[in-house]
Amino acid sequence: MAVAVGIHDIALATGHYAMDLAELAVRHGVAADKYYIGLGQHRQTVPAADEDIVTMAAAAAQQIVAEHGANDIRTVLLATETGVDQSKAAAVYVQELLGLPSCTRAVELKQACYGGTSALQLAAGLVHRDPGHRVLVLASDIAKYDVDSAGEATQGAAAVAMLVSADPAVAVLEPGSGLYTADVQDFWRPNYRTTPVVDGKLSVSVYLEAVEQAWKDYEAHGGRSLGEFAAFCYHQPFTKMAYKAHSRLLEINGVAPDRLRLDADLAHFTVYNRMIGNSYTASLFVGLLSLLDHAEDLSGRSVALLSYGSGCVAEFFGMSVVPGYRERLRTAANQAAIARREPVGYERYRQLREAELPEDGSSFTLESRGAGPFRLHAVREHSRIYQARRLIRV
Ligand code: COA
Repeated sequence: MAVAVGIHDIALATGHYAMDLAELAVRHGVAADKYYIGLGQHRQTVPAADEDIVTMAAAAAQQIVAEHGANDIRTVLLATETGVDQSKAAAVYVQELLGLPSCTRAVELKQACYGGTSALQLAAGLVHRDPGHRVLVLASDIAKYDVDSAGEATQGAAAVAMLVSADPAVAVLEPGSGLYTADVQDFWRPNYRTTPVVDGKLSVSVYLEAVEQAWKDYEAHGGRSLGEFAAFCYHQPFTKMAYKAHSRLLEINGVAPDRLRLDADLAHFTVYNRMIGNSYTASLFVGLLSLLDHAEDLSGRSVALLSYGSGCVAEFFGMSVVPGYRERLRTAANQAAIARREPVGYERYRQLREAELPEDGSSFTLESRGAGPFRLHAVREHSRIYQARRLIRV
C-alpha cells in the first residue's frame, strides 16, 4: 500500500522590523490605497542587519526541532533565491545552529519563488523511498528591490519550515502535479547585483499564463476537478496577484470570478502575506499557514496550491488536510511573530537598507539588533559566524 507522505509540522519566522506602506506611498508620491488596495499589501517586513535567510530559516525550524527532536531528520533542503554564498549551502549553517546530527544531508535549492515547492516535492520522494526518513524543508528569503522602483512596495522577508514525513499530522501531498516551464526574462538576479532585474508587468502576465498551463497539465494527468478543492493557495508576491491568478483559474473553468467568490476562496490565505510582504520561496507556504490558521475546519478537505517562480517554473498540486491538524498549528506563535515586529518609518527603513554588509571581503562584527533566536555575529576571513541568542539544543 502507498505510504501517505506530507507535512507533519509547519512553522513561521519573519524579521525584526516592519514598515507600513503608507510610508513608502508618501515617498513614491502615490495614494496609500495604491498599495493597500491596488496591491493588497499593508506592511512589509524589514530585516535587521544581523538577520538573513539562515537566521530566519533556523528560527522557523527550531520550533519544529524543539517539538519533534532531531534524530529522524536525515535531510535538510533549504530553498532560497537570496542565498548568502555561491557554493556552501545555507542548510549547512542551519544544521549546525539546530544541533542536527552530522549524519545529515544538507542542500540548497534554487528556482526563484518556485524553489520551496521543488524542495517539498524532492522531500516527498525521499520519504517515499524510506518512510522512516524525515526531511526538514526550509524556504527562506528576503525580497528586496531597487529603491524607488515599482517592486519596492512588494518587499518583505520570512521563512517557513516544514517537517516532511510519512503519516503526516497536517497535510498529505496528493499524487499528481501540473507542471509548466518556459524560458522567460521576467525577473532574475545576475551574480553582480544585490537586487533583481524585473519586468513587473511581464511577470504578472507570465504568471497568469503559467497558472493556465499548469492547470491544464494537472487536468491532463487526472487531477481533481476545481469543485473538489475547499481552498486555494497561490504564490503571493503581493496578495492582489493571488486574486488575479484565482480569477484566471475560475475563468478557464467556466466560473465567473465575482468578488464574493474570490473573497470566500482567498480571504483566509492572504492575511499573513498582507502584513509580511513577498517572501519569494516562502510566500506560498506563508499563505498555506495563514489559511490553516484562519479557515474553518478543513479536516479531510483538499487544498489546491499553485507555485510560481519567475524565469519561469510553475506547479499545480493538491494536499489533503489531515483530521485533527488544528492541534498541531502554532497560530498564536505565528501571529506573535508578525505582531511583535518593531514599526519603522521611511527614514529608518533607508538606514537599515543602506547598512549593507561590506562586499569587499573585509572582516566586521555586527551589533545585536534583532530579537530572534539566532543572529549573524560577524564575518571573519570571508566566513560567516552565526550565534544562538537562546540555546535550544534538544
Ligand atoms: N487605489 C486603489 N488602487 C489603485 C490606486 C488607488 N489609489 N492606484 C493604483 N491602483 C491599482 C491599479 O489600478 C492596479 O490594479 P490592477 O493591477 O488591478 O490593475 C494596482 O493598483 C497596481 O498599480 P500599477 O500601476 O499596475 O502598479 P505598478 O506598475 O506601480 O507596479 C508591479 C505593479 C506588480 C508591476 C510591481 O509591484 C512590480 O514590479 N512588482 C515586482 C514583480 C512582481 O511582484 N511580479 C508578480 C509576479 S511574480
